Amino acid sequence: MSAVMKGEERSVAELIASQKPGYSLNQLFYTDPEIYDLEIKRIVNRNWILAGHVSQLSEPGDFKVLNVGQESAIIVRGKDGDLKAFANVCRHRGSLVCLEKHGHAEKFTCPYHGWMYDIDGSLTAARNMNDKFDKSSHGLKPVSIGEIHGLIFVCFDENPPSLEGAIRDLEEPMGMFDFENLKVAAQKSYAIPANWKLAIENYAECYHCATAHPEYAQMHTMMLDAEKRERASGHMYERMEACGVKAFDIDHVDTEARPGEIGFGYSRTAMFSKYETGSRDGKPVAPLLGTITGYDGGHADLSFGPFSYVLAYNDHVVCYVFTPIDHNNSNCEVYWLVRGDAVEGEDYHEGELTWLWDITTQADKEIIVNNSKGVHSKYYEPGPFSGMERLERRFTEWVLQELQRP
Ligand code: FES
Ligand SMILES: [Fe+2]
Repeated sequence: MSAVMKGEERSVAELIASQKPGYSLNQLFYTDPEIYDLEIKRIVNRNWILAGHVSQLSEPGDFKVLNVGQESAIIVRGKDGDLKAFANVCRHRGSLVCLEKHGHAEKFTCPYHGWMYDIDGSLTAARNMNDKFDKSSHGLKPVSIGEIHGLIFVCFDENPPSLEGAIRDLEEPMGMFDFENLKVAAQKSYAIPANWKLAIENYAECYHCATAHPEYAQMHTMMLDAEKRERASGHMYERMEACGVKAFDIDHVDTEARPGEIGFGYSRTAMFSKYETGSRDGKPVAPLLGTITGYDGGHADLSFGPFSYVLAYNDHVVCYVFTPIDHNNSNCEVYWLVRGDAVEGEDYHEGELTWLWDITTQADKEIIVNNSKGVHSKYYEPGPFSGMERLERRFTEWVLQELQRP
């Protein structure tokens, strides 16, 4: 039997109280399906999740599907030009309505008994239902959808955190890269057979980078400690202004400070001096973005809530979204974005564009799975975080805090 019994919130509180500060999470946080259910309720379904970029849904009827835990949303460009999201759950007997991952539709037809929905979610046809049946009260249920400068977010809660602070504070930094007018040049899904938190924890720390990612580590200073990193940043600071890159340091990741708002952050980090971007040889792989006029040898890191992370080089952007599938399986969705007018084969080559973060994500997947195997062992016990795992520690503490928020 699970240590955390249904309805016994006290046992979760006790488990959290027994958590040693500065140590990795107790085993049950990774293995217990009931803790996972609580995470879904209190964390996953309450927070915004990056679902793509507006360029993927440019015409009315363009749609894509986002699956997270037990939920599935259809995101569609409406006839009025607005983006809308609906629960992908038929109002007849609950089948998934849309089985494709993305595409273009005039209407959505449920594969089970053929009920038909307009792209505005309303039910337009239901065969052989009696005269009293009211179609107008059987439309697809709406799901919260929002946009931050071209990035689409979905939240499976009717009262999602506000995006306004992020839209306001990130307008200038994201404007430099012209996020709104980028386009998705590539998108890949990585299935990770491990608890979702292990995937995010791994992304949050670069203590492992030197050993696990030789390709990444030769160009990024992220695997240095803060002091060495600062020393390695001189060349970037000298060139930023001439390259049209302004410095911003935004840290509103802590949602305690701004309750009811999405947590978000923006910072800039130098690469080692001969690298201009994150590519095989450090040379550009796509045209410069937005108002940026050159290579200062840095990249920007952005975060949006707990699941969505963005790495913006001067010539391309990589977005990471980590979501649970069930308590032991998660998905990592990676998007590569370039200038909206960049042409594949001329301005960029998909293989070169995706090279670094494809091999890095594959290596991460293996690390996370090995981590998961050990964490399930009877010999696992929480171990101490290093100074380079500060953000991971912050993430695990945030999870514990959110689990206690009714
Ligand atoms: S469940 Fe969709 S039409 Fe029956
Ligand atoms: Fe990694």
